[in-house]
Amino acid sequence: MRALARRRLPRPIFDYIDGGADDEVTLRRNAAAFAQYELVPDVLNDVSRIRTGTTLFGERIAWPLMLAPTGLTRMFHGHAELAVARAAARHDLLYSLSTLGTTRLEALAETFGGPKVFQIYIFKDRGLTTEFVARCKEAGFHGLALTVDTPVAGNRERDRVNGLSLPPRLTLKSMLSFALHPRWSLPALTGSRFDLANVSHKVDALAAGPMSLFDYIGGQFDRAVTWRDVEWLAAEWGGPLAIKGVMTPEDAKRAIGSGATGVMISNHGGRQLDGAPAPIDQIGLVRDAIGEGPDVICDGGVRRGSDVVKALALGATACSIGRPYLYGLAAAGEAGVNRALSLLFEEFERTLILAGVNDITQLGCRHIRRLNELWC
Ligand SMILES: Cc1cc2nc3c(=O)[nH]c(=O)nc-3n(C[C@H](O)[C@H](O)[C@H](O)COP(=O)(O)O)c2cc1C
Repeated sequence: MRALARRRLPRPIFDYIDGGADDEVTLRRNAAAFAQYELVPDVLNDVSRIRTGTTLFGERIAWPLMLAPTGLTRMFHGHAELAVARAAARHDLLYSLSTLGTTRLEALAETFGGPKVFQIYIFKDRGLTTEFVARCKEAGFHGLALTVDTPVAGNRERDRVNGLSLPPRLTLKSMLSFALHPRWSLPALTGSRFDLANVSHKVDALAAGPMSLFDYIGGQFDRAVTWRDVEWLAAEWGGPLAIKGVMTPEDAKRAIGSGATGVMISNHGGRQLDGAPAPIDQIGLVRDAIGEGPDVICDGGVRRGSDVVKALALGATACSIGRPYLYGLAAAGEAGVNRALSLLFEEFERTLILAGVNDITQLGCRHIRRLNELWC
């Protein structure tokens, strides 16, 4: 899927999906860390039927996977978020829409009847956050994911080199890459206007131009946000709320103490703090700290269905994926996302069968071992 996406997209757009912050150490480690765990199978346990269903954000889903929120999706395929949500619905999975998405949350809710989460920020203008909460309630979203790892944008050097900065400073090489991908570039030039659909009403986008919209939203990120703001948001929303970007057991405890119902262990797919640990390595600590009840979602580096089995064995409720479905979207729209989800599910189910586990609730620490470390 990644190779197809790379062929389909102009280089600066592919790099925007594929890249991470600074030296991309965390980006690489997120995926590589899964290989540091061994799966230890049971045998002769009747695996003729495998139960994979679970509950996330209070909603039933077919297996423990959610589609992470990703901004600017229309850049990767003209059908944007709706194509992704339709594929998620077909697989009975949970979809999350980014604040920086390119489809209005109301339009998404109309098309997509499945479980849906809105990814929110606490903006300088608390009124904008309150407005999102009210709109999500009205549209029937089931949960919120509050992203907390983005007080400033990470240093994405691929984007800088390609000139995919704000304002864009496209190099000759980048422009050539757009010219060499007419199948992407022509619809992008002539298709529906690229828009941060959920916030564009805040700026007279037509008069001020798309850049001032980005300027507006960029200026809304608030470095002064604290746990008290989480308490405020939890009370305002009153429903399932996960804090996205928690890495430590201490912060996981604070999140639950502040009214969240779950945490997404995440370093934003290696796009923010380079050097941050891999989410898979933090699951056990976080689960021990907050007990059995809250959702613990491992977000980042999942590239195989077996990675999800490992995360569950370590104590996660579910995993979430960003790039794996975006590569599929860029490669072939809805069909590509569908294919990515099918491949992951096949791998997930096959791994469970081979591990001798017929019900995901039975997965536990005896099924997993870190290389060269003592067993639990
Ligand atoms: C292109 C792209 C855009 C993203 N946009 C957002 C966003 O708007 N909000 C957010 O909370 N996370 C965003 N993320 C992070 C994802 O939600 C998720 O944490 C990450 O992709 C997980 O890592 P993975 O790509 O290895 O699966 C984005 C990730 C990518 C790749």
